[in-house]
Amino acid sequence: MPKNKEGASKKGMARLFELAGTHKGLVVSSGVLAVLASAASFIPYLAVYFLIRELIGVFPNFAALDAAQVMNYGLLAILGVFCNVVFYFSALALSHIAAYRTLYELKINFIAHITRLPLGFHIVTGSGALRKIMDENIESVEGFIAHQLPNMIAAFSAPVFMIVILFAVDWRYGLATLTGIIIAFVIQALITGGDQQKIRLKEYQRTQEAMSVATVEYIRGIAVVKAFHQTVYSFKRLHDAITDYTKVVIPFTLNSENGMSGYITVTNNIYLFLVPVAIFIATRTTNYAAFAADFLFYLVFVPAIASILMKALYTSIVSMRVAGNVERMDDILQQKVLPVTENPETAGGYDVSFENVSFSYLGKAEDAALDGVSFTAKQGETTAIVGPSGGGKSTIAHLIPRFYDAQKGAVKIGGVDIRNMKISGLMDTVSFVFQDTWIFKQSIMENIRMGRPAAADDDVIAAAKAARCHDFIESLPEGYQTVFGGKGVHLSGGEMQRIAIARALVKNAPILVLDEATAFSDPENEWLIRQALGELMKNRTVIMIAHRLSTVTEAQKILVMDKGRLVEEGTHRELLDRKGRYYGMWNTYSVSLTWGLGKGEVSHA
Ligand SMILES: Nc1ncnc2c1ncn2[C@@H]1O[C@H](COP(=O)(O)OP(=O)(O)OP(=O)(O)O)[C@@H](O)[C@H]1O
Ligand SMILES: [Mg+2]
Repeated sequence: MPKNKEGASKKGMARLFELAGTHKGLVVSSGVLAVLASAASFIPYLAVYFLIRELIGVFPNFAALDAAQVMNYGLLAILGVFCNVVFYFSALALSHIAAYRTLYELKINFIAHITRLPLGFHIVTGSGALRKIMDENIESVEGFIAHQLPNMIAAFSAPVFMIVILFAVDWRYGLATLTGIIIAFVIQALITGGDQQKIRLKEYQRTQEAMSVATVEYIRGIAVVKAFHQTVYSFKRLHDAITDYTKVVIPFTLNSENGMSGYITVTNNIYLFLVPVAIFIATRTTNYAAFAADFLFYLVFVPAIASILMKALYTSIVSMRVAGNVERMDDILQQKVLPVTENPETAGGYDVSFENVSFSYLGKAEDAALDGVSFTAKQGETTAIVGPSGGGKSTIAHLIPRFYDAQKGAVKIGGVDIRNMKISGLMDTVSFVFQDTWIFKQSIMENIRMGRPAAADDDVIAAAKAARCHDFIESLPEGYQTVFGGKGVHLSGGEMQRIAIARALVKNAPILVLDEATAFSDPENEWLIRQALGELMKNRTVIMIAHRLSTVTEAQKILVMDKGRLVEEGTHRELLDRKGRYYGMWNTYSVSLTWGLGKGEVSHA
């Protein structure tokens, strides 16, 4: 198995080389070919050198030129170009094979990993961020292995050949050129190598990402923004993201400015280093023909060095960016997967019990969303959870289908810790209807069937009827076969909720977790949803989060949550008699209800 599993400990370039090493044979062969290509690229320069020598040797009597010899040099130059092209193409062919194999493995590995992560991770991270990592970050590894790596090998091996040639022709010019190259490399190392600049590059990538997320959110939210005249506030996030980006990108660019200009100036003018050496040699030589040949050769050859060194700089900058991309992938791969038990147990019944459960979203005890919560929701009964916003109601709901695991205590179904149940078994046992229902771009029939893929069409229709969806589905252009999200198909929030209820009905799981919508769009819709829920709740263990107290009075048990603690527990009557938290909430609620009905015309009983 390739070493790209979770828990990658390496970072930066080391991590990229590790990834490239997953198909070592291919990558090494590609590297060797890249080195050969770079060696071949110097052959034409040598041919030119030989030609210059030949020309100067017969100067000014060109008729004495040995035509056959000139032809040979010409052929040598063509051979050099030909070899360069063939080697380079073969290097790229191999590196592409390696790159796409690695890419495939990375993507499979990434998908396998995210499917094993707790559902809660997906709620927090969002599909957009994961899509970006799949489509952009991981994708960029292909560019690194297929292009940057061979280029880098070529760019970094070229100087070796260059130096050999430089010194072979005339070591004095060689030394002068080498001095120029070393200065260029030092400047380059200062640009890309400094810790400060590395941090800046990271910041640059982070703010750029934040800006793109904010832009997408802003565009997606334009309808809401317009409807609520929220222009300034929602724009603020985007504006902040742009400001953040600006704050980072300007120093980053300015900081690169001097180094970059220095590097380009030096590499493009290395031949200037030749001039003093040429003057020195010219004043001491007697063989002017040889002097002219050598000097001309260096004048032709040295500018080529600039383009090679630019390539080296460019590839290292791009590679650093890819390294940053891979780090984002590794962050996700390091997220702990939901532990699966070796010896699964089956629930002995459908009581749901919390035993001294504590949970914090951030994993810190001091900001616990649940703090030592214990209760039992009896099989076949309805247990309602009420309490102020942020009290921990939704958190309780999230722990039952294992969106997250409790850090302390245990959640049990029929006496069995849910962590000791098979995931698929738990999923068959619990169905949930949460506030944000997810409808897929498929036919309504398939959307409902998702609750239980084996369900027959008749079961789906029966569920839709019970969930009070049948009528509006029939009125859609193609009935049950209408594709959601297609042209002209829009469902209201209430309709989508009823579809979610139908889906849960088809699933027919013994335990139902409901997080009721906070607000209903209209009374008729509310009435329909109530009826649908009534069907769904029959003969099940129901744990229902209620935002309106009117819906909980019938529950066999009411839990009152506040600041992560269970503060009261009992039936509606018991809790009213206790005259505690619930009693207070109920009074506020009935008063608000009265206000809602009219200005004091209805006296409250
Ligand atoms: N994904 C999350 N990451 C971090 N903290 C969270 C997350 N979800 C909820 N919390 C925090 O956990 C606490 C309990 O939140 P929870 O959603 O359970 O409250 P709630 O009772 O359902 O509130 P509401 O009535 O507003 O839905 C709150 O302090 C909340 O800020
Ligand atoms: Mg909630």
